[in-house]
Amino acid sequence: MLARLNAVVREGFGRYVPDDDYPGKHGMREYAKREDFNFHHHAPTLIIASNKPNYENAMADCALALENIFLAAQSLGLGSCYINQLHWLRDDTGVREFLAELGVPREHTICSSAAIGFIDKESAAPPRKVGTINIVRLALGDEPNRVSHFRFPRLTLENFSGDDA
Ligand SMILES: Cc1cc2nc3c(=O)[nH]c(=O)nc-3n(C[C@H](O)[C@H](O)[C@H](O)COP(=O)(O)O)c2cc1C
Repeated sequence: MLARLNAVVREGFGRYVPDDDYPGKHGMREYAKREDFNFHHHAPTLIIASNKPNYENAMADCALALENIFLAAQSLGLGSCYINQLHWLRDDTGVREFLAELGVPREHTICSSAAIGFIDKESAAPPRKVGTINIVRLALGDEPNRVSHFRFPRLTLENFSGDDA
């Protein structure tokens, strides 16, 4: 089944015209020309998250559901990866026809998917990107502001250095 889906996705990328400059989209079109193309990294399981197309939180809902799946996979000692290709090909007729055969509702938009498999080789944690996260710390009892009848703690904004985590 996944081999057939991979073949259908490969054909889809043959027709695919990227709608922006995102390098991954252009790279994937090139990669799909290769015989060894496999968009789900040969993982034995692919979980597809689809949703109502005119629902503003469609993508957020699906991304959160997949995040829970990634965390569950990690806790079970499994590997997982966010897989975007079905989202890019969500309007491709050939891909949608095959997904409909698999039971994905035709009226849904494809938000994302998760590949789940067995870890081949543990990868090292990548280095932290210093200075990219701002953390608001609550300092209780320090210079409280009175708003209505509540006392609010002072808020301080710090640039996360990544050293103290
Ligand atoms: C929205 C989103 C889409 C992604 N799509 C793909 C994908 O299609 N294929 C893939 O191999 N990895 C995909 N990834 C995984 C990233 O390439 C990367 O491995 C992951 O975000 C962890 O990176 P980090 O450790 O630098 O945060 C995606 C990640 C995100 C957040």
